[in-house]
Amino acid sequence: MAAAAMLFGACCEKQCDTINPTGVVMDNILSRKSVRSYNGEAIPDSVMENILRAAMAAPSGRDWRPWSFVVLTDKSQYDSIFEGNHNMQKFKESGAIVVICADTIHMGPTRDNPDGPDVAQVNQLWRDDMGAVTENLLLAVEAYGLGACWTACYPYAETMAPVKRCLGLPASVVPYAVVPIGYHDGTTQPKDKWDPSRVHNGRW
Ligand SMILES: Cc1cc2nc3c(=O)[nH]c(=O)nc-3n(C[C@H](O)[C@H](O)[C@H](O)COP(=O)(O)O)c2cc1C
Repeated sequence: MAAAAMLFGACCEKQCDTINPTGVVMDNILSRKSVRSYNGEAIPDSVMENILRAAMAAPSGRDWRPWSFVVLTDKSQYDSIFEGNHNMQKFKESGAIVVICADTIHMGPTRDNPDGPDVAQVNQLWRDDMGAVTENLLLAVEAYGLGACWTACYPYAETMAPVKRCLGLPASVVPYAVVPIGYHDGTTQPKDKWDPSRVHNGRW
């Protein structure tokens, strides 16, 4: 039994090595942290494109992909979206701010049924999709050695209002999260959140 377990362990290790040679995925997830101080350096367009590519790879209910992104790099715009929100002033040195937006209405046919009826429907799963897309973006930011901080916008009316106004969002589009991204000094450490008491085997 012990020998079999050892053998299985060795095989698994080998397989895991093949799939994920350097543990980069685990390292990436466990290294992510909220960074709130940046050095003002600009983010290359190619890096931003890859970050958004990773974000858009997120899972999505019915594959409706309700997300859109408004990328801000002009610091004069930062002030207008942070209007009246003093907590956001610390993010002024970020190289870019990505406003992650959700269209709460699904327009038209589904991707898996392109010939379906062109009927607008309320997307009841948009919040779930937006959590996934935001986390994907944060992990990609971490992979590039950049820092970011998910800051809440939805569901706070007073936070969403200036963002909607300044960015000209259509009525059905919600500014879900405002994510400053930037280069940083590397001093912020990830938190160790592993808590075995949160795991229930078989039943609660
Ligand atoms: C939905 C959500 C909203 C958040 N809003 C803010 C925010 O408005 N301001 C802020 O500084 N951090 C915000 N955070 C970041 C959390 O404070 C942070 O994730 C938490 O303290 C855990 O730290 P970590 O991200 O370094 O693991 C938010 C995170 C989430 C998931």
